[in-house]
Amino acid sequence: EVWNPNGKYRVVSTKAMPGTRWINLLIEQDCRVEICTQKKTILSVEDIIALMGDKCDGVIGQLTEDWGETLFSALSRAGGKAFSNMAVGYNNVDVNAATKYGVAVGNTPGVLTETTAELAASLSLAAARRIVEADEFMRAGLYDGWLPHLFVGNLLKGQTVGVIGAGRIGSAYARMMVEGFKMNLIYYDLYQSTRLEKFITAYGQFLKANGEQPVTWKRASSMNEVLQEADVISLHPILDKTTYHLVNKESLSMMKKEAILINCSRGPVVDEVALVEHLKANPMFRVGLDVFEDEPYMKPGLADMKNAIVVPHIASASKWTREGMATLAALNVLGKIKGYPIWSDPNR
Ligand code: DGY
Repeated sequence: EVWNPNGKYRVVSTKAMPGTRWINLLIEQDCRVEICTQKKTILSVEDIIALMGDKCDGVIGQLTEDWGETLFSALSRAGGKAFSNMAVGYNNVDVNAATKYGVAVGNTPGVLTETTAELAASLSLAAARRIVEADEFMRAGLYDGWLPHLFVGNLLKGQTVGVIGAGRIGSAYARMMVEGFKMNLIYYDLYQSTRLEKFITAYGQFLKANGEQPVTWKRASSMNEVLQEADVISLHPILDKTTYHLVNKESLSMMKKEAILINCSRGPVVDEVALVEHLKANPMFRVGLDVFEDEPYMKPGLADMKNAIVVPHIASASKWTREGMATLAALNVLGKIKGYPIWSDPNR
């Protein structure tokens, strides 16, 4: 699909993206916009090289693509200056290779913070109240009347929510769970983020001033403290060498037997094979997963676990956010082509 065929700068998007604002922004600045219409979901390196062709000023790509040495050297040969990942996470991008070939990299932070945190909150609630199991039970025609024991779950109020990775998304999630459900908070952040402290101090004062029961909170000095103390644990770190399999057999064994684990960050943060074993051995332990180690696949056995809720990497999937991500992605590429600053944000 081609927009503004006579535009001076050729910008390629490897996928159709929501809304038209991003296209208009590029067209207004004299870009020819080419959107890949291939039916397959995940493009190979060869597909992308063919798309870029001999002249390409910038590319908007997706987290499913492997942006390494091969693609950046091809983009640079085509005269390209900018690559924008339509995602906040950029573990699929080799930033050093991009720098080596003189290509600037951008991502799309900010616009997906609340949307992603809302999905983590939804999974927390769905796991605590066994909503998916109960829905399946109804649809299977098994409901034959109210019972005192039917789908009894956990009350979140007064329990402790544990957040691992208190950047933008982790902090927004923590706020939702503390303010919305009056949970106590424990969190751990490798980068010593102070985002949460201001909120929690002000919120504590607000509760006190209104004579409401206070919530307790603690910045943990190790991740293990969070694993041991929290009832609901949500993972929000970036994926890099230090966070690969951050949650593994050993860390799972430290969690409470009835804990809930949520992952809306990146699949490889959790050792999925160990997780399946843990779910089998601990039927009261529950998990809500938006991301998987080998997307789009799940490790054997996970799909059979009643104590797991699985959704297909949709944490940022609200209309407002996806249109915002597309707009930011276009602005990143445009910025580099036209010489404005870009939104690259390696520090979250
Ligand atoms: C991201 O942006 O990194 C999410 O995984 C997709 O929105």
